[in-house]
Amino acid sequence: MLGAGVVGGSLIRRLVEEHAAIEAKTGLDLELRRVAVRDIAKARAAAVDAALITVDAAQVVDDPSVELVVEVMGGLDPAGEMVLRALRAGKPVVTANKALLAERGPELFSAAEEAGVPLLFEAAVGGGIPIIRPLSETLAGEQVTRVIGIVNGTTNFMLTQMAEHGASYGDVLAEAQRLGFAEADPTADVGGGDAAAKAAILASLAFGTWAGIDNVYHEGIDKLTAADMKWAAELGYTIKLLAIAERLEDGVSVRVYPAMLPVSHPLASIRGATNAIFIEGPSVDELLFAGPGAGGEPTATAVLGDVIDAAREILAGAQVAPRIRLAPGELVEFEDVATKWYVRLEVDDQPGVLAQVAGAFGNHDVSIKSVLQEGRGDDATLMIVTHLAAERQQQAAKNEIAALPKVRSVASVVRVESPDV
Ligand SMILES: NC(=O)c1ccc[n+]([C@@H]2O[C@H](COP(=O)([O-])OP(=O)(O)OC[C@H]3O[C@@H](n4cnc5c(N)ncnc54)[C@H](OP(=O)(O)O)[C@@H]3O)[C@@H](O)[C@H]2O)c1
Repeated sequence: MLGAGVVGGSLIRRLVEEHAAIEAKTGLDLELRRVAVRDIAKARAAAVDAALITVDAAQVVDDPSVELVVEVMGGLDPAGEMVLRALRAGKPVVTANKALLAERGPELFSAAEEAGVPLLFEAAVGGGIPIIRPLSETLAGEQVTRVIGIVNGTTNFMLTQMAEHGASYGDVLAEAQRLGFAEADPTADVGGGDAAAKAAILASLAFGTWAGIDNVYHEGIDKLTAADMKWAAELGYTIKLLAIAERLEDGVSVRVYPAMLPVSHPLASIRGATNAIFIEGPSVDELLFAGPGAGGEPTATAVLGDVIDAAREILAGAQVAPRIRLAPGELVEFEDVATKWYVRLEVDDQPGVLAQVAGAFGNHDVSIKSVLQEGRGDDATLMIVTHLAAERQQQAAKNEIAALPKVRSVASVVRVESPDV
């Protein structure tokens, strides 16, 4: 094992305490041979024989008695080199590291294919939710059209608090940090980067197209306000941070942003730190996978399942066919993707404003679905939901609107993911 932290610690406990139960169920005698950590003096929740622990990850990978490597150290370095080294030595690897896969996926998967050993990563998306295996095996023959996921528990917890308690973004972030749902530096979660890495992985499984983290457009939740949540509810929506991988006419689109979902959508009811992945395909119609997206115990279950799978492959002794085949496939630029917008404007409460705003949308071929206005004397709030139009048209319309003399500010833009607009 490389790492014995939140996930690794839970896995070690399971390997030790549930050894007999695992053997009874699977026939496998899983033995912990070596564990790499950063700080050897740190107290460990799970009992590990001190003789097994090292600070040198290479010692774990190179140990001839180690047949299978579990990478739960996180980060890109040295995790990437260690995974490659293990694969090249013909050792199956189980990893939970979405950041590493999103950054170096093709290289790692081809090393696994060349060596004929499995590289398994069920825990990398959705923590304890089985989603990688269903997508790469059960649904391998389905022409999946779209995958939409709530794949970051921190932000879903925060958005749920904002929606249900009218709390501000700053207050819910502080609360999430106090409860241990958010890191001291929450950027990867609230900025959408973590969800983008998972979106890249989901896209590659659903479509065999490698997006690569740099090609995933992502926006976080940090600009959302309590007012956005309130207006969304009033319009019949809830706001969720969505990781979307979609097959469009000209290729695949992979993107992450907070979006309004109709309250009737199955993902709208996913509350708190729970994760969920919604899959659409012509034959299966709609599938929903939901559950704990993080946490030591649920994530260790996914890792352990992969360990058992890989151990069975070792016993079978055959070359392993790759679970995932990546082709460079066409990716659709985000500016070309058709989206629907909700726009909130602060305007002068004067005749003609609405006509000017509608005109600006019209100048860029964006048609309006609905308008709601709330006046307060000399100023007013306009809430507009548009029909589908390419991102670049929506952006151009927004820029024109922002420059209108009677428009005080474009207070908010949130995309709308709804089949009925
Ligand atoms: N936590 C979750 O709920 C969750 C869910 C899904 C996926 N994951 C993924 O699982 C992986 C592990 O996450 P985690 O939360 O378990 O992380 P963590 O608690 O920070 O544990 C990391 C472990 O790796 C060790 N380590 C780090 N750098 C090392 C180095 N250079 N050499 C040797 N050991 C090193 C650490 O040693 P020390 O103990 O000495 O510091 C620690 O034991 C990450 O890729 C993460 O994205 C986590």
